[in-house]
Amino acid sequence: MRKPILAANWKMHKTVAEAVRFAEEFAKALGDEQSVDAVIAPPFHALAAVGPVLAGCSAELSAQNVHPEEKGAFTGEISPGMLADLGCGYTIVGHSERRALFGEDDAFIARKAAALLAHQIRPIVCVGESLEDREANRTLDVVGGQLQGSLAEIPSDRAAEIVVAYEPVWAIGTGRTATPEIAQEVHGFIRERLSARFGPTGAEIRIQYGGSVKPDNIRELMAQADIDGALVGGASLDATSFLQIVTFGRSEGSA
Ligand code: 13P
Repeated sequence: MRKPILAANWKMHKTVAEAVRFAEEFAKALGDEQSVDAVIAPPFHALAAVGPVLAGCSAELSAQNVHPEEKGAFTGEISPGMLADLGCGYTIVGHSERRALFGEDDAFIARKAAALLAHQIRPIVCVGESLEDREANRTLDVVGGQLQGSLAEIPSDRAAEIVVAYEPVWAIGTGRTATPEIAQEVHGFIRERLSARFGPTGAEIRIQYGGSVKPDNIRELMAQADIDGALVGGASLDATSFLQIVTFGRSEGSA
């Protein structure tokens, strides 16, 4: 049984004060709920302030990116050890915005994922096709290639700790969610690839859907066999909305 995992990716939003206010409200409402993994990924500047607030509930802190090296002359970057120091239990890698806007490739993402695991931080590894890919019927090729490349350095005995997020680029921030059937088709394919790569452990790896997830569509997404959670952008910026997503996702996911 895979525990539902609902994650908030705030991207480049919120002041420290706004982030703390959200975390306080969220922590109070979530309490010590153990039937779901709730994860909050603020921008870097707010990690140190949000971490101690989330320590009072069952939610985990996540970063949105990391550099694979331990330390050194990498101006503007942050290392896995630094994120562990801040109490991050998860970190997003390979988001399509990083791939498209900052030129990150699968090999670099693979190094990040492995470096995080070495610090006991669970990587949330994002994959997803563009609209152009989908229209050219390349979705499974693209997603398969990203998976193979981005997970290349994950040791089989640590595979159960990773999370894969399927985020079709055309559904991000557009209000255009993949239908549950379209999402499940790709999630099922990802599950097959994970099982081919990691054996029986592939069935334990959680696969999140991302792209215009909201309180009113999370249930039907979570009802799909291989959708184990969501990575939420816009609708995670409001505590009430994200709490609803966590609550609805939990009940549908464990049904
Ligand atoms: P939206 O939920 O705003 O579409 O963003 C999805 C996303 O990119 C989460 O990582």
